[in-house]
Amino acid sequence: MDLIYFDNAATTPIYPEVIETMHATMQEDFGNPSSVHAAGRSAKAMVESARKYIANQMGVLPKEIIFTSGGTEGDNTVMQSALHQLGIRHFISSPIEHHAVIHPLENMVQQGHIKLDLVNILPSGLPDKDDLKRLLSSSDEKKMVSLMHVNNEVGTIIDLNAIGNLCHEHNALFHTDTVQSIGHFDLDFGVLPVDFAVASAHKFHGPKGIGFLYIQKDTGLSGILLGGSQERGMRAGTESVHNIVGMHTAFQLSCKRMQADALHIKDLKSYCLAQLQAALPGTIFNGASGDFENSTYTIVNARLPMDEKKAQLLAFYLDLQGVCCSKGSACQSGSGGESHVLQYLLTAEQNKAPSLRFSFSAHNTKTEIDKLIDILVDYAKN
Ligand SMILES: Cc1ncc(COP(=O)(O)O)c(C=O)c1O
Repeated sequence: MDLIYFDNAATTPIYPEVIETMHATMQEDFGNPSSVHAAGRSAKAMVESARKYIANQMGVLPKEIIFTSGGTEGDNTVMQSALHQLGIRHFISSPIEHHAVIHPLENMVQQGHIKLDLVNILPSGLPDKDDLKRLLSSSDEKKMVSLMHVNNEVGTIIDLNAIGNLCHEHNALFHTDTVQSIGHFDLDFGVLPVDFAVASAHKFHGPKGIGFLYIQKDTGLSGILLGGSQERGMRAGTESVHNIVGMHTAFQLSCKRMQADALHIKDLKSYCLAQLQAALPGTIFNGASGDFENSTYTIVNARLPMDEKKAQLLAFYLDLQGVCCSKGSACQSGSGGESHVLQYLLTAEQNKAPSLRFSFSAHNTKTEIDKLIDILVDYAKN
C-alpha cells in the first residue's frame, strides 16, 4: 500500500541528494574535525563550510551558529544557559509552546530557580500582546521571553518583529523556537530583533539528530555541555560531521526551492481546506490554521464533525488506510495523544470532536488529498 504522508511537521522525508552527500562523507571523510592532520582538516573544512552557508542565509556571523543535536537541545541550551550563565530569574513563555521549551522551564520552576509567567493565548493561537506587555512591565529585572515562531500543532505564526521589539523595550532577551519555520520561511536574524533561535534539520528534509542554534553574539550566552573545546567551547562533543554535511545540503536545497515549494504547498493547503469543508460540512480549523495570514502554509489542523465514538477510532482507521497524520484532540483515546495545545485552545466540549493535523511538503499532491477526503467521508458514513 502506498502511504499518504501528511505528517511533515513531525518529520520530512530526506532528500536523496542529502543521503548521497552523507553517504560519501561517512565513507570518505571520517576524520575528527579536532585532529590537526589532513583527515581532520578535511572534516573541519566541511563543518565550517556548513556553518558559513547557514550563517550567511540567516544574515548572521558564522560564530553565532552552533551545531546541536536538534531542536530539543537548542531550546534546552537557551533556557538553562539563560539561568545559569546569564543569571536570569524571570522567564515569560506561553502554554502552547513545544515541550522542549515548557519542560525545562517547569523543571527550573520546580527547583525554585525561576519565576515563570505564561502569557494569555488568543483562540487564534497568537499571544495576547497586551498581556505580554503587562508581564514585561511587571518588573525591571532582566527577563527572558520564549515564544515559538510557528506553532507545530495549529500552525499559528507570530510577528517576530513586533514581539522581539516589545521584549527589547522591556529589558528582555527574546528566544524563539523556529523549528517549524527555518527551511520554510526566509528569516534574517541580522535584521529581526531575535536573540536566540533554533532549527532542526529533519523538518526540512535533512537527517534527524542535527540542528543549529543561533546565539546573538552580544548576549553572552554559552552552552551547557562541558568537555572538549568544539564549537568554540559552546557545545562540547565531537561534531557529527555526516549529519552536519547532510543538514548543509538539505538547507541549500530548501533555500533554493523555497519559493516554488511554498507556492505548491499553499495551493495544496487551500485545496485541502476547501475539500474538507465541502465534503464534511461543519469542519472547523483549529487556531488560525484555516487562514494564511496568521498561520503557516504547511499545516492544517481540522476539527471534524464526528461524535465521540467515531473520534476514538479515527486515527487508527486512517493508519489502516495508509494515511500518516497526527491526531491532536485532547480526548481521543489511545496512545497518549493528548495535546496540551488543543486542551488550552478548545473547550472540553469542542475537544470531544476529533482533531487531526495534516502537514504537507512539496512531495504531496492533490490526488492524495482527494484520497484522504474519500477515506474520511467513508468513515463518517459507516
Ligand atoms: C516546534 C518544535 N520545537 C522543537 C522540536 C524538537 O526538535 P527535535 O526533534 O529536533 O529535537 C520540534 C519537533 O517536533 C518542534 O516541532
